[in-house]
Amino acid sequence: MPTVFVILGATGDLMRRKLIPALFHHYQEGLLPKMFQIVGFSRDVLTKESFQAMVQEMTKAKVAAPKEKIDEFSRFFVYQQGVFEEKEGYKSLAQFLGMRDRDWKTCSNKLFYIAAHPQHYKTILQNLKSSGLTKPCSPEEGWTRIIVEKPFGKDLKTAQELDRLLGKLFREEQIYRMDHYLGKETVQNILAFRFSNSFLEPAWNKDWIESVCIRLLEADGIGDRGIFYDGIGAFRDVGQNHMLQLLALFLMETPSSFDGDAVRQARAEVLKALKAPKGSAVLEKTARGQYEGYQGEQNVAADSKTETYFRIITSLNNARWKGVPITLESGKAMEKDLVEAQITFRHPTPCLCPDKNRHQKNVLRYTIEPDEGVKMSFWVKKPGSKMQIEERSFSFNYREAFKGDEFQEAYERLLLNIIQGDQTLFVSTEEIMASWKFVDSIVRGWDKAKVPLVSYLKGAPVIET
Ligand code: BG6
Repeated sequence: MPTVFVILGATGDLMRRKLIPALFHHYQEGLLPKMFQIVGFSRDVLTKESFQAMVQEMTKAKVAAPKEKIDEFSRFFVYQQGVFEEKEGYKSLAQFLGMRDRDWKTCSNKLFYIAAHPQHYKTILQNLKSSGLTKPCSPEEGWTRIIVEKPFGKDLKTAQELDRLLGKLFREEQIYRMDHYLGKETVQNILAFRFSNSFLEPAWNKDWIESVCIRLLEADGIGDRGIFYDGIGAFRDVGQNHMLQLLALFLMETPSSFDGDAVRQARAEVLKALKAPKGSAVLEKTARGQYEGYQGEQNVAADSKTETYFRIITSLNNARWKGVPITLESGKAMEKDLVEAQITFRHPTPCLCPDKNRHQKNVLRYTIEPDEGVKMSFWVKKPGSKMQIEERSFSFNYREAFKGDEFQEAYERLLLNIIQGDQTLFVSTEEIMASWKFVDSIVRGWDKAKVPLVSYLKGAPVIET
């Protein structure tokens, strides 16, 4: 089916890092619709040719492919200069799309991807509407879909406003709220891991599990993303979305099926049960940090108070998890990249431990990045005449186990899902609102309790809990 993909914010970081490689992969695999056009929309003054040259550069930087292939791929792209706040660009875009449909003699599918700074979302949506771009070209054929990147708003209030606005312009089945973590292979595997292994389920609760820790640590600083990052900070950038989605998948109740709606509902329920630390607990259970040198990064305020690191110990107010501490920890410019969930089981009672001061606990580490896999520690007797017990582990490496199989990148999978109209891996309004309620409450707590912004050195070691 003929499809036009409009990327609003087409010269930015997301385009370069994620969209270009994903689209190129689909192109190489022949997965793109036969009649397909990508329209880049951005304020930069570019011609079609210079935009295509930019696409070629971006592609070369990310994939190893023959020049002719890359050149051919770049010819899917055309360019529409426009300023998000000004109507002219949108009008020209509408004219271009009309012309494209006339040339193709069809009413093509339209996909609008908002890949811009969240502060522009409202303006972009209003201008898309006022220039007629959200109106279908025919009642029978050609769908219109909209993709909104995270962060969806900057707090509960702005998220609700954005949602209301989207609701006025589109039906729910046209809206794709993106959290690319949901498209990662190892994130999807959490469902299989939890619900296809019956030995886990009886132990997956407060009676057997002592604590849960979810980490998203990155070795890189913010690079050239200062405009986006400063004022948003680590907690809104990855905490409100990626990390809470991981928490939801690891700790949710069994959904009635693997069906999209059932899974989204189960995720939303667990997010609604989140309990933010309050009062004096805020200082005790939360921490904020900023790496040294952050204030000197490009487009960052010299006196910026934005956090690049946070740690929060929270809990869930539900029967399964009541009282179990759940740590969320994330930072930029850390010692290494690591995205994982660490589940620590309670020690046996009574504990027949030879060393009374060292309880034997089993720890399950589910690593999402970089070494995807699962590692479970267990205790064994060291050979010899004494009863000496040592910790060892079983481990499973996802890439090694499925060596010959193709690992689809998150954006590849999600873009295809959007074209196919499958919303399973996208976030529902209910989940977004529940996560903002939690985030707002933490941020208010930080302000009220004056939680200090601690400075840390770049390459800080992973902080063990
Ligand atoms: C993005 C954040 O959503 O996720 C980035 O804006 C972060 O700050 C990135 O680096 C992490 O995603 P991935 O897929 O690189 O682990």
